[in-house]
Amino acid sequence: MSWSPDSWRSKPARHMPADYPDPAALSAVEGELSGYPPLVFAGEARTLQSELARVAEGRAFLLQGGDCAESFKEFHPNTIRDTFRILLQMSVALTFGGGLPVVKIGRIAGQYAKPRSAPTETIDGVTLPSYRGDNINGMEFEPAARTPDPARLLKAYGQAAATLNLIRAFAGGGYADLHNVHRWNLEFVSGNPQADRYRALADRISEALNFMEACGITGKEVRAVREVDFYTSHEALLLGFEQAMTRIDSTTGRWYDTSAHMIWIGDRTRQVDGAHVEFCRGVENPIGIKCGPSLAPDELIRLLDALNPRNEAGRIVLIARFGAADVVKGLPPLVRKIQAEGRTVIWSSDPMHGNTIKAENGFKTRRLDDVRSEIDSFFSICRSEGAYPGGVHLEMTGQNVTECLGGLQDISESDLADRYHTHCDPRLNATQALELAFLLADELKKNRDRIEN
Ligand code: PEP
Ligand code: CO
Repeated sequence: MSWSPDSWRSKPARHMPADYPDPAALSAVEGELSGYPPLVFAGEARTLQSELARVAEGRAFLLQGGDCAESFKEFHPNTIRDTFRILLQMSVALTFGGGLPVVKIGRIAGQYAKPRSAPTETIDGVTLPSYRGDNINGMEFEPAARTPDPARLLKAYGQAAATLNLIRAFAGGGYADLHNVHRWNLEFVSGNPQADRYRALADRISEALNFMEACGITGKEVRAVREVDFYTSHEALLLGFEQAMTRIDSTTGRWYDTSAHMIWIGDRTRQVDGAHVEFCRGVENPIGIKCGPSLAPDELIRLLDALNPRNEAGRIVLIARFGAADVVKGLPPLVRKIQAEGRTVIWSSDPMHGNTIKAENGFKTRRLDDVRSEIDSFFSICRSEGAYPGGVHLEMTGQNVTECLGGLQDISESDLADRYHTHCDPRLNATQALELAFLLADELKKNRDRIEN
């Protein structure tokens, strides 16, 4: 079965905009992008795959998180910094709890295009195309904004490049020093009276850091103390853009999608014979597959046959997104099938997309309690099926938004209107995300104690 970066074009493609008014202008932009510098280097994607292979073996944990949809409006150095920072804070708690390295992947620097439940939206009798993400059209409810504009792809490329540039500077330039990150966590614990229950864990991390320092393991001496490896990811939805960013790696002679280290296929576009699977099967990046209630075990195996025929470790992340109620029924048959067929995958939990509800005042939201409950079930299902619960996939931001319900600040439905900024799905705010990480750290610690005793 031959493959080329454009072989997806002969397959049915769901959730792709077909209404660009000037297809020639779109082709011209794609052509221009194909000559732009890659955003990531193929060697980095290979390093990520080898780190993910450790996750697959149960020797590391995966933390993937960020915006549902990045937007041009929220593009700002502080937003990038805060998302990066909260992911690091979470990862320190998780590393300590699990006693394992944490592989950190942002939904960032390219997470623009969105699949939508309906192609059009009607307000007060007026029907317009749905908003599809800032790299396609605009959110404002007016005909001009909702018309797909290829120039948006160039702007998205530029913002992704600038975002990644800042992340690389933070990751390697001293900002991500373990002592800094831990200091932010101490501020979180002492700044929130309700967070006092996490003090014991934070204090133990302080002790461990003091001990390391006494032994000479400091940022000055050891790279791993002062720098982090941080990877980017987004849904490979808009295939024209992904194709334009796909290049042959001169080191290996293989194809890589250089738009991000990892890409994933959404729950709505994972048809085995569809365009998205066709595109992803030919690039060497690690690939995520969203697994929801409509995925049958046999279909999952066919997807793996297409996407990972050599059964390579670290190539596939299966991202389960069933919802707190349905995960108990939907996930076990998939895990069992994978075990029975001897496929090497990472199981990760997306406890967001199956738990979206509509509040009485109309806001799309999620309850932190449902998020926690789905993660708890995910852990216990994996354990009882003999699989390793390898990671979590979260929609979150470092900002103090009010989009999800519950948590230490006890956000209620009447609070949602205060700071509801998302361009798509509701995100955990910084406090909710960190609280979740502390809870998860405890869970990972229990897991470890169980294995050790
Ligand atoms: C998403 O991750 O934003 C998304 C659309 O998820 P899913 O494909 O799982 O619905
Ligand atoms: Co989403």
